[in-house]
Amino acid sequence: MEYTTLGGTGVEVSRICLGCMSFGSSDWRPWVLEPEEGRELVERALDLGINFFDTANMYSGGESERVLGEVLEGQRDEAVVATKCYFQMDEDDPNSGGLSRKAIEQELENSLDRLGMDTIDLYQIHRWDDDTPIEETLRALDDAVRRGQVRSIGASSMWAHQFAEALHASDRLGLERFATMQDHYNLAYREEEREMHPLCEREDVGVLPWSPLARGWLARPHDEFETTTRGENEEFVPQHPYDEGGGVEVNERVQELAADHGVKMAQIALAWLFERDAVDAPIVGTTSVEHLEDAVEALESVDLSASDVAYLEEPYEPVRVSGHD
Ligand SMILES: NC(=O)c1ccc[n+]([C@@H]2O[C@H](COP(=O)([O-])OP(=O)(O)OC[C@H]3O[C@@H](n4cnc5c(N)ncnc54)[C@H](OP(=O)(O)O)[C@@H]3O)[C@@H](O)[C@H]2O)c1
Repeated sequence: MEYTTLGGTGVEVSRICLGCMSFGSSDWRPWVLEPEEGRELVERALDLGINFFDTANMYSGGESERVLGEVLEGQRDEAVVATKCYFQMDEDDPNSGGLSRKAIEQELENSLDRLGMDTIDLYQIHRWDDDTPIEETLRALDDAVRRGQVRSIGASSMWAHQFAEALHASDRLGLERFATMQDHYNLAYREEEREMHPLCEREDVGVLPWSPLARGWLARPHDEFETTTRGENEEFVPQHPYDEGGGVEVNERVQELAADHGVKMAQIALAWLFERDAVDAPIVGTTSVEHLEDAVEALESVDLSASDVAYLEEPYEPVRVSGHD
C-alpha cells in the first residue's frame, strides 16, 4: 500500500480511504450492508494495508460508526478514523444538527460513544452552517482538540470563499485550522479544480474526494447505471450533473480505455484520480470485497499515459456546482 502525509497533520494515511457510508443498516438505504458484511469489508481493507476510514454520524443514523468501531476494537492505533457532524440527527431536535457549540459537543460525544473510542483522528464538518458564525464553530472544534477528543479537524463540501474565510479565521484567532477538505470530485465532476484545489494546495490542506466513481456512474456504461441496487435507488445521481456537459462522452472514453488496458472502468476512473497532484486519498465506497481489491489494483498497477489522461479529460465542460447542499 502507498501512504501519504495527510495535509499538515504529519499523519500517514493510505492513498485509499474506505468510505463507510455503505455500512450500517439497509433500513437507511437499501444498498447498505448489514453489520457482519460491513465487518468483512473493513477487515479486508486492513489486510490490504488500508488504514484510513471515513464515516459520519448520519450514515445509517450512527450505525456505520458503530460497525467501524466494533471492527477496529483491539487495533484502534493502526487506524486513522475520520467522522463528521452537521446534518440533523433527530428531526424533533433542531440542535442535533448544525455547527453550534451545543451541536458539535453533543454530536461529538455521541460519535465517540458509538465508535467506542476516546479520540477521533479527523473530525470534519460535513457542510457549512449559515446560522453559526465560523468563529463559534472553530472555537468549539479547537476546544475538542485541546480536550483530546479530536486530533485534527477537516471540512467538507462548501464554496472556496467560505473555506478561505475559515482558514483565515483560525489563523487570526490562533485556533486549530482545517487540515483537510473532503469534496465532490471525479472525472465527471471537476468544478473543484477551479478554486478549491488551488486553495488547498497553497494552504497545505489534504484533499479527500468523495464519490470518486460518481456514485458508480463512472464504474459502468452510463446507460447501465440503474442496473444495480444502488443505481436503482440512488437519489443523488439525478441531482448531480454527471451526464451534462461532456459527461456522457467522458463515460464512453472510460469504457474505451478500460478495454484498451484490459481493466475495469472503475480502475481507469480511480487511476485518473490517483494521478491528480491535488488528491491525497479518494474515499472509495463499495459493498464488495472484489471492488475494494479493484481499487487497490488500480493504485498499484494501472498506469495512465499523459495521452490517456488528456483523452479522458478532453470532453469535460464546466457544469453547475453540485454537492454543497
Ligand atoms: N462529504 C460528503 O458530503 C460525502 C458525500 C458522499 C459520500 N461521501 C463519502 O465518500 C464515500 C464514497 O462515496 P460513494 O459511495 O458515493 O462513492 P463512489 O466510490 O463514487 O461510488 C460507489 C459506487 O461505485 C460502485 N463501485 C465501486 N467500485 C466498483 C468497481 N470496482 N466496479 C464496479 N462498481 C464499483 C459501488 O458499487 P458496489 O457497492 O457494488 O461496489 C457503489 O455503487 C462514502 O462512503 C462516504 O464516506 C461523503
